[in-house]
Amino acid sequence: MPVTVRDIRAYKERGERFAMLTAYDALSARLLDEAGIPLILVGDTLGEVMLGHPSTVPVTMDDMLHHTAAVRRGTSNCFVVGDMPFMSYQTSIEDGMRNAGRFLKEAGANCVKLEGGGRMIELVGRLTESGIPVMGHLGLTPQSINQLGGHRVQGRDAADALRIVQDAKALESAGAFAVVLEAVPSALAAEITQSLEIPTIGIGAGPDCDGQVLVWHDFLGITPGKAPRFVKRYASLADEIKTAAAEFASDVAAGTYPAPEHTYD
Ligand code: KIV
Repeated sequence: MPVTVRDIRAYKERGERFAMLTAYDALSARLLDEAGIPLILVGDTLGEVMLGHPSTVPVTMDDMLHHTAAVRRGTSNCFVVGDMPFMSYQTSIEDGMRNAGRFLKEAGANCVKLEGGGRMIELVGRLTESGIPVMGHLGLTPQSINQLGGHRVQGRDAADALRIVQDAKALESAGAFAVVLEAVPSALAAEITQSLEIPTIGIGAGPDCDGQVLVWHDFLGITPGKAPRFVKRYASLADEIKTAAAEFASDVAAGTYPAPEHTYD
């Protein structure tokens, strides 16, 4: 059965933790769907892990709609979250409404995710009133990387922590059905999770969130270099891919591939 907003709320009501993973194409999404992952985020990390950009800032609506539609085509049951890219909703309420609508109408997303509290709260209210479910995103908000001065843990000082708590409550009051907490101290994430009726989904936010999210390339061990502290690699696909590619090249050089069983008579 397709996962709905009600199912996601029910996880929290039952005290059941749930997983969200990112995906950016149909076949990867299909694997997650078949594995029983309830939520897929077509994150704007697309820019970094798929398109080779240094950050999420250059990602466009066209990029996001293209990949969200592919993910939708690969899934039967997953709840698909479309991530609104930088400057698709910060410019005005009207732009935010129009672009959020495109995720549902053109790409088949079930909801949109957007970063920030403060002046985003009005937009969240307008979207939910219009029938567009919204997932919030607080703490480290990578679209503001130029403002934040790097990928740093947020909410370490009291004023910053209070602002994040207030934003989380405001998102809930405005109608958001869930909120991602990225790179915040675990005690702060625990406090927010306890104080909200809607589920929190953590990434680098400790064990007490209602759900956890990881990026496809991180959890499969494809991302090069040292992983951030919060990442657990569940596979080492980078090594496997490199070994397989080298083996293929050496088979080709030796003339052992294609063998008779790979050849049409
Ligand atoms: O874009 C993304 O993949 C995200 C996750 C890191 C939560 O926003």
